[in-house]
Amino acid sequence: MTFLAIKNISKHYGPVHALDNIDLSVAAGSRTAIVGPSGSGKTTLLRIIAGFEIPDAGQVVLEGETLADGTDAVPAHRRGIGIVSQDGALFPHLSVAENIGFGMERGAHDREQRIKGLIDMVELDRGMLDRRPHQLSGGQQQRVALARALGRKPRLMLLDEPFSALDTGLRENMRKAVARVLQIAGITTILVTHDQAEALSFADQVAVLRDGKLVQAGTPQTLYLNPRDRETAAFLGDAILLPADLGDGSSTCALGTIPVDSDGRSGRAEIMLRPEQLRLSTIEGEGTGLACVGKVTDIEFGGAVCTVTVVLSSANGSETLNIKSSGVGLPEIGSMVSVTVLGKAHVFEKPGS
Ligand SMILES: Nc1ncnc2c1ncn2[C@@H]1O[C@H](COP(=O)(O)OP(=O)(O)OP(=O)(O)O)[C@@H](O)[C@H]1O
Ligand SMILES: [Mg+2]
Repeated sequence: MTFLAIKNISKHYGPVHALDNIDLSVAAGSRTAIVGPSGSGKTTLLRIIAGFEIPDAGQVVLEGETLADGTDAVPAHRRGIGIVSQDGALFPHLSVAENIGFGMERGAHDREQRIKGLIDMVELDRGMLDRRPHQLSGGQQQRVALARALGRKPRLMLLDEPFSALDTGLRENMRKAVARVLQIAGITTILVTHDQAEALSFADQVAVLRDGKLVQAGTPQTLYLNPRDRETAAFLGDAILLPADLGDGSSTCALGTIPVDSDGRSGRAEIMLRPEQLRLSTIEGEGTGLACVGKVTDIEFGGAVCTVTVVLSSANGSETLNIKSSGVGLPEIGSMVSVTVLGKAHVFEKPGS
């Protein structure tokens, strides 16, 4: 069921076309991640949903209620929507406890208990409740802002990069804790993030914005494995792009003949593989007779996942690949390896895109 419908939303700031005819549906109780390069319109879209910005055209409909129809809009405080903005935006003159309790009923008997529960949830020390926002780090302020937004029990929660100031371990913990709380409370959520792994793991639906346009929306799996174009592919993870000849549901490229996910196409095209689809094995000697052999020219150590640069030589010339590999049993620079492909290669929807 559609909980939130964004219909043909457009917004200009002077000559800047911040949003261009955006259509997006969000299901009740679901989690949507919005990703896109800096300046692509992510914050503008959240602010229009929240009611802090008025669209030039288009509608925002929440649970069947029209919140914005062109410039005719319901004020932000009547929408029941929580937003954690990119900068946290706490009230500087209020303590942490007062910030978190802002919006809860003053006389509620469980107010203090709820404030404590929320500060625990965002993994901050209860000793911080009496501090002022300027006495906290940026990441701590973001977490207080999150606790404050959750304390108001919104029907829709908008999160604009709420974890960006946190380090990796804490970021992951927070993401899981927040996802759990939102799920238990049944709060539909839209998260803006620059972090592709965060978008793919947090969301039921990922929407990609570019230059104010919605390029593609779908499940994380669909976007990761079937991106519409090479920019979207690169945005959601590392992509290996190779020129290929298509025909009969397979492609012939520098890696040999591999199956593709589009049977109908033939002729020249660019195919995409994700790095984890390639497996390296060290071979003795020159590997004559093996299907796909290359020479290791560089290794970038990256902890759990390392990048091995392999130059493949074939009759059609050479092709350089950056292949992800476990840090255990890495080949040596200068050694010969064979490359095996797992699964199918993806063919982009638009030929030549
Ligand atoms: N109040 C404003 N006045 C003028 N231009 C604006 C205003 N707000 C946003 N813009 C412009 O609109 C475009 C979209 O901005 P927006 O803040 O939505 O991007 P974003 O995708 O959130 O970027 P980031 O990832 O850097 O936060 C940008 O070109 C920006 O400069
Ligand atoms: Mg932004």
